[in-house]
Amino acid sequence: MTASPSSPRKILITSALPYANGPIHLGHMVEYIQTDIWSRFQKMRGNLCTYVCADDAHGTPIMLRAEAEGISPEQLIAKSSIDHQTDFAGFHIGFDHYHSTHSDENREFAALIYNRLKDKGYISRRAISQFFDPEKQMFLPDRFVKGTCPKCGAHDQYGDNCEACGATYAPTDLINPKSAVSGATPIEKDSDHLFFELGQFAEMLKTWTRGGHLQTQIANKIDEWLESGLRGWDISRDAPYFGFEIPGEQNKFFYVWLDAPIGYMSSFKAYCDQSGLDFDEYWQKDSKAELYHFIGKDIINFHALFWPAMLSGADFRTPDAVYAHGFLTVDGQKMSKSRGTFIMAKTYLEHLNPEYLRYYFAAKLTSRIDDIDLNLEDFAQRVNSDLVGKVINIASRCAGFVTKKFDGKLAASLSPSAAELYAGFVDKSQEIANLYEQREYSHAMREIMALADKANEYIADTAPWVLAKTEGKEAELHESVSVGLNLFRVLMNYLAPVLPKTAAEAREFLNIQDSSWDAITQPLLNHKINPFNALMTRLEMTSIEKMVEASASSLGAKSAPDGKKDDPKPKKTHNQSEHPMTAENTLPTAISAEFDPLAATIGIEEFAKIDLRIAKIVHAEAVPEADKLVKLTLDIGFEQRQVFAGIKAAYEPEALIGKLTVMVANLAPRKMRFGVSEGMVLAAGPGGSDLYILNPDDGAKPGMRVK
Ligand code: 2FM
Ligand code: ZN
Repeated sequence: MTASPSSPRKILITSALPYANGPIHLGHMVEYIQTDIWSRFQKMRGNLCTYVCADDAHGTPIMLRAEAEGISPEQLIAKSSIDHQTDFAGFHIGFDHYHSTHSDENREFAALIYNRLKDKGYISRRAISQFFDPEKQMFLPDRFVKGTCPKCGAHDQYGDNCEACGATYAPTDLINPKSAVSGATPIEKDSDHLFFELGQFAEMLKTWTRGGHLQTQIANKIDEWLESGLRGWDISRDAPYFGFEIPGEQNKFFYVWLDAPIGYMSSFKAYCDQSGLDFDEYWQKDSKAELYHFIGKDIINFHALFWPAMLSGADFRTPDAVYAHGFLTVDGQKMSKSRGTFIMAKTYLEHLNPEYLRYYFAAKLTSRIDDIDLNLEDFAQRVNSDLVGKVINIASRCAGFVTKKFDGKLAASLSPSAAELYAGFVDKSQEIANLYEQREYSHAMREIMALADKANEYIADTAPWVLAKTEGKEAELHESVSVGLNLFRVLMNYLAPVLPKTAAEAREFLNIQDSSWDAITQPLLNHKINPFNALMTRLEMTSIEKMVEASASSLGAKSAPDGKKDDPKPKKTHNQSEHPMTAENTLPTAISAEFDPLAATIGIEEFAKIDLRIAKIVHAEAVPEADKLVKLTLDIGFEQRQVFAGIKAAYEPEALIGKLTVMVANLAPRKMRFGVSEGMVLAAGPGGSDLYILNPDDGAKPGMRVK
C-alpha cells in the first residue's frame, strides 16, 4: 500500500506486553526496536500510525514475586511499569501510549469479550484434576512443580517437560513431585475450570491462518496444529490468583493469557480517550483501519489461534497481520548470566549509545523468524564502519568548509552531474520505503550503506581538502561540500526510523524542520546551516567489555552454582512438536523466561561444597573510605581471616568484637580497594541498618563446620 496525502492509512501497531515481574533485557529489545522502526517509518510516510503497549500485569508468578518481596502485586506492577518505561524511553521507543493489563479498561474489555463468548455458547465448564499445594493452599501451574523425570530419571525437572531427555508429560507423572512454591508434596485435587471452545473456530481459523495474515513459516506450523485438532483452552484459574475475577463466578479468575492480548485494546482505548481517536473505527468488525501485532515466535499460538478466535467470537475485527521475529543470541550462544551476555536494557544504557543497538538490530532484521545474533566484535566493527565511518564522517568532512569558507551557506545551484548524483539518491526512496514496509530492514540498511559508499566516493573524487588549498577552486569546493551535505541529509532521512535522535540532531545541524519521508525531494541550496558538532562517536570495545563485566557481576553472582540453571529458561520457542492446546503447555515457556521460582535450587552435593564455619570476630573496625564496610578479623580455629562486610550501618564495630558468627570459608578471595576479602559473613535482612549477622548459640566453637 502507498500513502497519499489525501488518504493516510490508519494503522494500529503493538508489541507484546512485557511481564511486570522482570526487567527488560536485550532479548526483549529486538521486538521493541523492530516495532518502533516500523512505527516511526509509517509516521514519516504521513500515515496515522498509533503504537501502543502495556505491562502484562497478571498471573501466578507476579503474585508470588510480590509476596516474596513483601509488597502487594499492585506495588510490584507499579514499580515495574516505571522501570520498563524508563528502559524503553532510553532506547527511544516511541509508544503513543503505555498502559497496564491491570486497568479498568482491561477489566471491562475482558468481561465484555468473555460475556459475548459465553452468550454464544463458546464457553464450557468441566472439572479437571490438578496438583494442589496443601501448605500454600493453591493449585500449582506445571512450572511450579518439580520432580524426577518419569522417563529418564533426571532429578529436578519441571512439571511439563524434562530438560535432560526432552520428554513431555503431565506434572502428575513426575516421580517424587514437590511444590516449587513451598517444597511440600502436592496432592491431586479437582476443580471446575472454564474453557474457551476453540474447536468451534476450526473453519474460521483455517481460513484466517491461510489468509495472508501470517509469515509462511508460521502458517505452515499452524497448519500442523490445526490438522491435529483443536481442544478447548482453559481460561480460568482458581484463587489465589492475581488477575480479574470472572463475572458470575466465585473465586475464579481469568488466566493471564486471556486478558493479556485484550490489553492491546485497552491500551488503545485509554489512548483514544486522550487523543480523540475513534476506538470503534479501529476495532469494529468491518474496520478499514489496519491492525498489526509484533511478537516473538514463542507466543504464536496465543496470537494466531486464540486471539483471532476470541476477537471473531466476540464480534470484533481480527488482525491484518501477526509478525513474529526470532530470538536473540549473543556471540552465537543463548544469553548467559555467567558470561555476562544476559544484558539488561538498563545496563546497556549505562555503557552504550542506544542507537548503536538500534542500527545493529536493523542491520540484522528481516521479515523472517530466524534468530539474530549480537556478535559483540562485529557490533563494534559494524557501527564504527557504517555509522561513524561512512555516514557521520560525510558531515564531519564537509561541514567545516561550509562554515569557514562560505559563511555557513550551501551553494546556490548544482552542476548537472551533481544534480544527477543527488537525484540518484532520491530515486532510491521508494525502494527503501518498500523494504521498511516489508520489514526487510537488513536489506534497507545495505541499500543505504551502498549509497553512503557512493557519497564517500564522490567526496574522495572531488577531494575538498585539496580544492581548499588550490587557488581559484572556490566554486568547485563549494559544490563538493554542498553536495556532500545534501547526500548526508538524504542518508540521515533514510536512517531516521532507526536513528531518531541522530536524525533530529542532523536536522538541527542542517537547519531544517521537515522530518517527513519526502522531505528530501529537493536539495538544500543557498541554505544556511548551523555549526557542526560530532553527531556520534566511535563505539569502543572497552565500553562493551565494561558492559559485559557489569552484567556478569550484577547477575552472575545470583546464578546457581551448578551452572545448569545459569539462565532463566532459554528464550526458546514453544516446543512446536507438542500439541499447543493442552492446559498449560504453552504458558510455561513464557512464564519461565521471566520467573523461575527454583532457578537457584541446588542439590545436596552443591550445598556440601559450601564450607560454612563458625567464626569468632576478634577484631572489627570501620573502613573510613567506604560507606558500608567494616573490616573484620575472624578466627576460624585453624586460622584467622580478614573479611570486609557491608554491615557498617547496622553495627558499631566495637560491639561486634567477641561475637560468634557464621562465615563462608571457601569463597574465592576477592581483591577490594581496601585489601583482600577472604570470605563472607552471613547476615539476614533487607540491608542498611536492618541487617543481622547470624549469631550461633553458645557451645559453637570457632572453626566448627556448619551443617
Ligand atoms: O510472553 C510474554 O512475555 C507475554 N507477557 C506477552 C503477552 S503479549 C499479549 F498477548 F499481551
Ligand atoms: Zn527425562
